[in-house]
Amino acid sequence: MDHKNAKKPSYSRFSQQELPAWKPILTPGWVIASFITIGALFVPIGLLAWSASDNVVEISDRYDEACVPDDFSSNAESFIQNPDTEKTCIRNLKVPKKLVAPIFVYYQLENFYQNHRRFVKSKSEKQLRNPEDENDMHSCYPVANTADDKPIVPCGLIAWSLFNDTYKLSTRGKQLTIDKKGIAWKSDTEAKFGSNVFPKNFQKEGLIGGGTLDERIPLSEQEDLIVWMRTAALPKFRKLYGRIETDIEAHDTIKVEIENNYNTYKFGGRKKLVLSTTTWIGGKNDFVGMAYVSVGGICLFLAINFILLYVFRPRRLGDPSYLSWNRHPINA
Ligand SMILES: *[C@@H]1O[C@H](CO)[C@@H](O)[C@H](O)[C@H]1NC(C)=O
Repeated sequence: MDHKNAKKPSYSRFSQQELPAWKPILTPGWVIASFITIGALFVPIGLLAWSASDNVVEISDRYDEACVPDDFSSNAESFIQNPDTEKTCIRNLKVPKKLVAPIFVYYQLENFYQNHRRFVKSKSEKQLRNPEDENDMHSCYPVANTADDKPIVPCGLIAWSLFNDTYKLSTRGKQLTIDKKGIAWKSDTEAKFGSNVFPKNFQKEGLIGGGTLDERIPLSEQEDLIVWMRTAALPKFRKLYGRIETDIEAHDTIKVEIENNYNTYKFGGRKKLVLSTTTWIGGKNDFVGMAYVSVGGICLFLAINFILLYVFRPRRLGDPSYLSWNRHPINA
């Protein structure tokens, strides 16, 4: 290469590495001040979050075992699969602290792998959105069409396995209304599920996997289905069932009438009903508060140690001779 013709890069402060730089020197004062600042910020934030989480009242009741009658206890599957057995089950929940509305009602499933690759893919996004795409169901096998080749809407395993336990709650002999409107994500109801797509041939033949859908209601208003179809990432998950808009007093008893329909017995899954209030940090979550308090605490601890070190064993700045071992005043 001809060096005379090689182009020199045009001058810029960047290419000549002349940009201003900040090279802080970690003096003891500076380090101690920053540790104290972080500690003083984090500890109060952590305590606030912790106490907020402490104010959340959560009642959780596992009912899958208790709701199988004794004479079926060794064979829960035959109980749940028999259409003639009595599935209604009464549970009484004690209220430890006043529940302030809105009270969220969840069902919690455990050991249910909604994140399985074959399961997650088993739906048709086009079909859920657009009535003209009702035949787009190649991803839905084995729940794609009926025996006489009519499409199933919504198709696929996710929709087919729709959770179908129901709950009725009451206190002091009065029914508590569970509001089921607005439990799904807005983006889902508005963009992913069509307001002119209606269920068809759903849960009509073969093995019944779960809940049924009212064919007169468009998918965008079938909020239980929409919540169910936002698949959970972990095998233990909670899904919103509804909301109660009245307070429930402390020491009341909530009578829960459960229709125990859903078959988790086949794979050893657990079912729980969860009632929870919320505060500004959301539901019960001690971790955020604890994390803040411990990080802040560690910072304060280090600051105190540096202060003690700085007071009792100070080292002059810019004095490298101090670093060499044989000139150290102690070893001299
Ligand atoms: C509920 O789902 C189970 C499968 O988990 C099914 O066997 C049962 O027939 C369904 N019952 C109702 C009432 O939808």
